[in-house]
Amino acid sequence: MKKIEAIIRTSKFEDVKSKLKEQGIDFFSYWDASGIGNEDLRRLHGYRGTVDTQFIRRIFISIVLRDINVEKTVDCIEKSAFTGEVGDGMIFCYNIEESVRISNGARGDASTAGPGDIKLIK
Ligand SMILES: Nc1ncnc2c1ncn2[C@@H]1O[C@H](COP(=O)(O)OP(=O)(O)OP(=O)(O)O)[C@@H](O)[C@H]1O
Ligand SMILES: [Mg+2]
Repeated sequence: MKKIEAIIRTSKFEDVKSKLKEQGIDFFSYWDASGIGNEDLRRLHGYRGTVDTQFIRRIFISIVLRDINVEKTVDCIEKSAFTGEVGDGMIFCYNIEESVRISNGARGDASTAGPGDIKLIK
């Protein structure tokens, strides 16, 4: 299993959510987030202007998935969160050791079932 974290523009959240749902990914956590990118680096190199992206409203999304669903989920977020402007956000992936579905005790892949995994959902 892997965890995908994505820090996206709040203005792109509904797009990202509905595109994820089209991929069968309708389970994730999210919360409002603040942060800074690498504005100094950009200024230093005169790269893509000197926009201060610190005040762009952002949402932080966290999704734990079976490995088989990771690539399409990353691609989906990358495409649906894109504007091409400075400050579009970041996506990170982590290995996940264990996951437990509290309602039925399912462990691992069976607890993070996604599209086509209906046989795994008890
Ligand atoms: N290396 C990082 N580690 C953790 N969070 C990051 C990292 N880089 C960016 N972020 C988070 O992502 C948000 C958006 O960063 P992003 O890199 O898109 O903005 P930017 O650096 O201003 O613009 P760009 O990289 O498009 O030039 C930041 O506000 C911060 O919350
Ligand atoms: Mg950046």
